[in-house]
Amino acid sequence: MSTTQKVAIIDDEADLRDSVALYLKLSDFVPVTFETADAALRFLTPEFDGVIISDIRMPGTDGMALLRRLQSIDPGLPVILMTGHGDVPMAVEAMRIGAFDFIEKPFEPDQLTELCQKASEARGKVMETRALRRELSDGSVLMRRLMGDSPAIRRLRETILDAAQADGHVLVRGETGTGKSLVARALHACGPKASKLMVTVNCASMSPEKLEAALFGDPDSGEKPLVEQAEGSTLCLEAVEALPPSAQVRLLDLLSAGEVDDAVGTGTSSFRIISVSGTLAPGQTQPYPFREDLYYRLNSLTVETPPLRTRGEDILALFAHFMVEFADEYGCDAPAINAADAANLVQAPWPGNIRQLINLAERAILQTRRGDLNISALLIDDGFQVPSIPLDSEKPLKEHVDAFERMLIDHSLRRNGGSVVNVMNELALPRRTLNEKMAKYGLSRQDYLATQQS
Ligand SMILES: Nc1ncnc2c1ncn2[C@@H]1O[C@H](COP(=O)(O)OP(=O)(O)OP(=O)(O)O)[C@@H](O)[C@H]1O
Ligand SMILES: [Mg+2]
Repeated sequence: MSTTQKVAIIDDEADLRDSVALYLKLSDFVPVTFETADAALRFLTPEFDGVIISDIRMPGTDGMALLRRLQSIDPGLPVILMTGHGDVPMAVEAMRIGAFDFIEKPFEPDQLTELCQKASEARGKVMETRALRRELSDGSVLMRRLMGDSPAIRRLRETILDAAQADGHVLVRGETGTGKSLVARALHACGPKASKLMVTVNCASMSPEKLEAALFGDPDSGEKPLVEQAEGSTLCLEAVEALPPSAQVRLLDLLSAGEVDDAVGTGTSSFRIISVSGTLAPGQTQPYPFREDLYYRLNSLTVETPPLRTRGEDILALFAHFMVEFADEYGCDAPAINAADAANLVQAPWPGNIRQLINLAERAILQTRRGDLNISALLIDDGFQVPSIPLDSEKPLKEHVDAFERMLIDHSLRRNGGSVVNVMNELALPRRTLNEKMAKYGLSRQDYLATQQS
């Protein structure tokens, strides 16, 4: 966000123009002046992140006409009109058209500054919302936020791009903090409906009655039901497992009705559902029994977000990335991670996944600032079992690298229940190299056969 407060001043009278400019400059605004409305119109665009002050009475295009033109360029541009004595009816009309405010001449300079300040804040908010909205609808930005280079995250990115373009409702499933909500937004933003806003509701955040009213409408509230707001766009149901039984029935009815209509070619079912859940599975009964027919309808495609602990080398890259971000924010240098801490970070179970990692990176930076960085202590605070074998920092690099490589292979074997083929894929290693390394590190596939995690 820019912190300069721009202000465009339009007045045919040079004296007034200059004195207003001078005064606002003293109040930390950056003024630019125009003698005519037409000159200003050549300069002002929807990207202008400032305030416009114009005289209402001018030869040629007057203040009212300028206001109308600016409204058609960008209704969010804040226009303050300077009116003379007796211009009240015109000022009222200006407010009706969408002027930010008006100020009657002669005015106290402070009065104008205060008004400009308010208008400038309003403009800042408009620009901020727009930037955010642009970002949310820009698939490539969201995909870039989905960082990592591990096979698991590369697969996830491909799945998102495929699912975004495919028909059918999508279920996004994964442990807490693995990026489900980010993935849901990316699915929408990479799909054909990206130009429309996605409508999101968290099914666990309100009572069953309220949720049903919000989704399907409530004659008393007069608010447009979310299923209608999502027309032509995406409806994102966060915590879908908390959808109460009666809402399940209504949603199912709606989806079935849409399909019938589609079959006869009217195509009225025009929103896509992205459901998000940590737990949802067929036959689920908590917190309510989840209808299997609805489950299969919502789950025509599944996107699973991988747990952080299965993402090996990503853990260090993400941790380093977020440390740099927080270091920037807190105004200090990001510390280097030593080999022992790196090994511990990679081996930690990360039940809170990326959210937990971000939180830990922030605490690491706060410690760095105080001069007592101890990543292992932070891991212990988070309930991790940190192995007590101290990694000797005097050891040559080669030994650290070997230890690290052994650990990655060991982890991958464990995750894949000893399936050498899976490990080859996961670590992008040819079979021979993998065999050699396993022999070198004394790792035997037999030892992993019974340990496959479901
Ligand atoms: N691959 C990734 N790279 C970098 N940051 C990520 C990645 N995935 C998620 N994040 C970040 O991790 C945090 C948690 O992500 P998100 O809120 O999407 O998780 P979630 O699975 O929806 O969590 P919850 O189960 O609590 O709803 C967010 O700050 C998000 O931006
Ligand atoms: Mg979420």
